[in-house]
Amino acid sequence: MPAANGTDISCEESYALKRDQTDALRDFKARFHLNPSKIYMDGNSLGVMSRDAEESLQRVICEWRDLGIGGWLEGNPPWFGYAERLSESLAPLVGAAPHEIITCGSTTINIHSLTATFLSMTKNRRVILMDELTFPTDRYAVESQLQVHGSDPRSNLKTVRSEDGYCLDEDVIIEQMTEDVGIVFLPSVLYRSGQLLDIEKLTKAAHAKGIFIGFDCAHSIGAVPHSLSDWGVDYACWCTYKYLNSGPGGVGGLYINQRHHGSGPALTGWWGHKKDTQFDMNNTYEPENSAGAWQIGTPHLFSMAPLAGSLALFTEADIHHVRDKSLQLTEYLMYLAEERLSSYGITIKTPRRKSQRGGHVALSHPDAIRINEALKASGVIPDFRYPDIIRLAPVALYTGFHDVWKVVDVLTSIMNRESYKAYKKTRKAVA
Ligand SMILES: Cc1ncc(COP(=O)(O)O)c(C=O)c1O
Repeated sequence: MPAANGTDISCEESYALKRDQTDALRDFKARFHLNPSKIYMDGNSLGVMSRDAEESLQRVICEWRDLGIGGWLEGNPPWFGYAERLSESLAPLVGAAPHEIITCGSTTINIHSLTATFLSMTKNRRVILMDELTFPTDRYAVESQLQVHGSDPRSNLKTVRSEDGYCLDEDVIIEQMTEDVGIVFLPSVLYRSGQLLDIEKLTKAAHAKGIFIGFDCAHSIGAVPHSLSDWGVDYACWCTYKYLNSGPGGVGGLYINQRHHGSGPALTGWWGHKKDTQFDMNNTYEPENSAGAWQIGTPHLFSMAPLAGSLALFTEADIHHVRDKSLQLTEYLMYLAEERLSSYGITIKTPRRKSQRGGHVALSHPDAIRINEALKASGVIPDFRYPDIIRLAPVALYTGFHDVWKVVDVLTSIMNRESYKAYKKTRKAVA
């Protein structure tokens, strides 16, 4: 089968080594703190620390030590406006103007804030449309916002069903955009199967029916380019600790299309006040005329600082090149899995079409929980999602084709020797 670069794809190790030699992004790997005895395939859950992220965090730690409160204006860059400065490097990743995005909060907090904002803008159409495969926190947050706004989630939250339990059909979602729906909130990439939804098509359909639409981009930011502004998406949010490698619990982010900036946020705080008069400390709230208005309190500098270093890598690499390599890696991984693992009952739950694929591949097996443990014991870091999914993310900036080959080789040997049967079927607290 011909590969994207014109060479004949094969299961031979030499093929993987050859692909690494011609990989234009291969030098980025040395910029990350990778354990040489492990292969890290869990960047879709928590990304690896880069030296650049470590440096930008270290800088803020030293500024706190040396400047104390002076860091707000004398830091390099000053801490006051740090989030707004990050928007310049984030803008090309989400396809929006810098003033349409802001780094703040967390995915869950931003879902609360954005849902509250759009609920206050929908008058008679109080139903929110979601899907049954979405990450649980998205649902918890939306349900609680419906309750806070006096609606019963049992009647005002409508859920799109998945036919196979792994993927969604955009046409079925569009059919469910009925007259009572005021807001549609969906994941860009589904966290288990890795399916990438057609954001542009869904946005066009929602707007044609007078519905606001938002996306949780936690599994696409840093892996997939977006054109949120051109597509006209109303709002979006994301985390930065997955493909953007900002560290555990790293700060979140949000996008809000500029046509909504005048509406102002539903959840307000002093950090969203106009910057030039914020410290006048008056009691009348005047929101910034930008996504910055959706900030609530003082920015978490230590969780923002690593992002500054990390984003510099994306500026250098260009998200389109990152996506290109990511697609080649996931294609190769799926090819190897089909060739070498299907006879052991391992199936692929990620869509094969490039336009429907995010940055990870989901493999399914009834014994996934034990196979996942066996992989960890063999030096591969995967992750498991209950009940039957192993997610493998060959992250373009720090994974090579030979890494992918080795992972599938290890997995083949685990299946062949049935060594996974030595592990317990119980899920760990974090899995
Ligand atoms: C799609 C998605 N949304 C939200 C979250 C969690 O959000 P938070 O950063 O607020 O914990 C995750 C975490 O993995 C996720 O995958």
